[in-house]
Amino acid sequence: MRIGFSGLGRMGFAIAERLMVSGFELAVWNRTKHKAQHLVARGVSWVDSPKDLTERCDIILSIVTDDHAVHEIYTNANGLLQSDCHGKLFLEMSTIKPQTIHGLAEMVQQKGGRLLDCPVSGTVVHAREGQLIAMIGGDSDSVEKVKPVLSTFCKSVNHIGPIGTGSVMKLVLNMPMVIYTQALSEALSIGVKAGIDLKYMLELIMKSPAGINVLPVKIPVMLGETEEVSFDIKGFKKDLLNMISTSQLYEVPAPTASVALQSYSNAVADGFGDLDWGAIIPYYIKKMQNSSK
Ligand SMILES: NC(=O)c1ccc[n+]([C@@H]2O[C@H](COP(=O)([O-])OP(=O)(O)OC[C@H]3O[C@@H](n4cnc5c(N)ncnc54)[C@H](OP(=O)(O)O)[C@@H]3O)[C@@H](O)[C@H]2O)c1
Repeated sequence: MRIGFSGLGRMGFAIAERLMVSGFELAVWNRTKHKAQHLVARGVSWVDSPKDLTERCDIILSIVTDDHAVHEIYTNANGLLQSDCHGKLFLEMSTIKPQTIHGLAEMVQQKGGRLLDCPVSGTVVHAREGQLIAMIGGDSDSVEKVKPVLSTFCKSVNHIGPIGTGSVMKLVLNMPMVIYTQALSEALSIGVKAGIDLKYMLELIMKSPAGINVLPVKIPVMLGETEEVSFDIKGFKKDLLNMISTSQLYEVPAPTASVALQSYSNAVADGFGDLDWGAIIPYYIKKMQNSSK
């Protein structure tokens, strides 16, 4: 089975590396070519366009920034859908709106191919260790076909339901987490202003029922001890916008997501968009300290 891969960003590169070592015949494309150098040096094929991926491969995976990027790699003049798509299976792993997935599925079908939406939960380290959680929307036959591929970088592969439901499920997972960080920012700002040490508070939260799984990994970022980025603040802003537009689609008010969006938008506007999302905590605390000066 020939696997095509598009999008060698933080997540994509880690996933492509797993696919490479697991022995699949792999071809890659990325907008910025040099990011493929390391893989190509180890025997992975490079192709010059997404269109070539479709032509040469049976299953084509992609994981890129946002809805706009997904639209471009599928529909551009040299996009994935410009080759004959009959018999081809596309696995879209970017975190994007379910609405975008529905539009894309229609286009893929018109071209004779099949699409699954398959966003993943976990971050770069989980991808490297094969510990991601896949949430798939689409038909059962296609899901069975991609399981061996997904199991090279996922610890858990979940068929959620029809096309688009993988993306809804991803939103259901991410929404409480991103809103939690807003609540945590506010709570820690109160503590800091009352004179309690930030590290002390975070460690105590971790020992209490108020901590969540992801906190231990993020505490070094929150304390400014590392600048390593696994997912950036502007990425969570994108997710929040998608959550809010999807909540409107299902007529579920999401006021807490709107408040979180305000904070993440402010951070991006203040030039912090490229920092890891854990940095939203020191950003917010500082903002609150400055607000009372
Ligand atoms: N990082 C995480 O922890 C994590 C976890 C789960 C899900 N995700 C999701 O995975 C996706 C990728 O995230 P990431 O952190 O890997 O992002 P990233 O490191 O910023 O990489 C983004 C990728 O998208 C490509 N891209 C952006 N705009 C493009 C365009 N217009 N045309 C073609 N390619 C384009 C980039 O190409 P260039 O190299 O040319 O810039 C790069 O390969 C996002 O949807 C994110 O929400 C991320």
